[in-house]
Amino acid sequence: MESSCCAVPERISLNYHLFHRAKAPNDLRHLILDISRAAKYISYEIQTSESGLAGGTNSSGEKQLKLDVLSDDIFRQHLCESELVSCYSSEEQEEIIELADNAPYSVVFDPLDGSSLVDVNFAIGSIVGIYAGDSIIGRKPSEQSAALYVVYGPRTILVYSTGKGVHEFILNDVGEFVLLREFIGIGDDAKNYSPGNLPALSDNEKYKAVVQGWLDRELKLRYSGCMASDIHHIFAKGQGVFTNVGGSKYPEGKLRLVFECGPFAYLMEQAGGKASDGTQSILDKEITDLHQRTPIIIGSKNEVESVCAALS
Ligand code: F6P
Repeated sequence: MESSCCAVPERISLNYHLFHRAKAPNDLRHLILDISRAAKYISYEIQTSESGLAGGTNSSGEKQLKLDVLSDDIFRQHLCESELVSCYSSEEQEEIIELADNAPYSVVFDPLDGSSLVDVNFAIGSIVGIYAGDSIIGRKPSEQSAALYVVYGPRTILVYSTGKGVHEFILNDVGEFVLLREFIGIGDDAKNYSPGNLPALSDNEKYKAVVQGWLDRELKLRYSGCMASDIHHIFAKGQGVFTNVGGSKYPEGKLRLVFECGPFAYLMEQAGGKASDGTQSILDKEITDLHQRTPIIIGSKNEVESVCAALS
């Protein structure tokens, strides 16, 4: 029995799942629900906005915000109204933003990952990490209390973990996130690969050899250019490897520890996969700067380990 007063519903909502299955503390449950509400508004804006990345004017002559700025505002509004967030850091902002005094959580997010793909109508996403307490600098991604991402594609999908497995929800027609799959697992071997920062191949011989190895072994290329969608591909198929490693232009690769790599490392390890910067776990890297970049090799354990060995 999951509840003394209600029968187990036919459709498991995000709220029900957080409460009965993940047994998340109430504050954390409410915060994740508030974030999921922000995602619904972002999903709506992506579907209905007539402007792309650059913003513009709609058919009535009204000025529209760029979608990434708009998404940042939507997050801010929902985090602020929750009264559960003492501070947050967004990929769109230089500094930490203080919100409610003595509130239990700090939140980090990329409100619209892959926003340059809006114009080509590819799937894009939001990525979120939640830390207990009122600080972000000096923390490690292993300290996250929860992480989640949303993919806005033909369907809007939300995937979360509070440290008790990784669970996937779909936004239905009445605006509710309902359970699709629980306890997503990642197999140890990869059949698909997603190689980011490919210009680095021109001056990183080891990375070039890794990619050549995937071609030789006839792994399948699955890469869209949006980290959230590309990593969701790994969660959806239960295997794969995603990389973004350095070359001379971006010595640490292109991705950010705080907003992108940290939350995905937490989710991937919860699902039985692995996330490394080549020498250490992403989860153990200390946050020293909000916008610090890190190389990342993430996905099926055996493939991540063999890529790290080849890069070292
Ligand atoms: O950080 C933004 C982002 O679009 C990620 O979502 C994506 O993985 C990466 O940049 C793409 O990098 P590249 O252009 O090197 O493939």
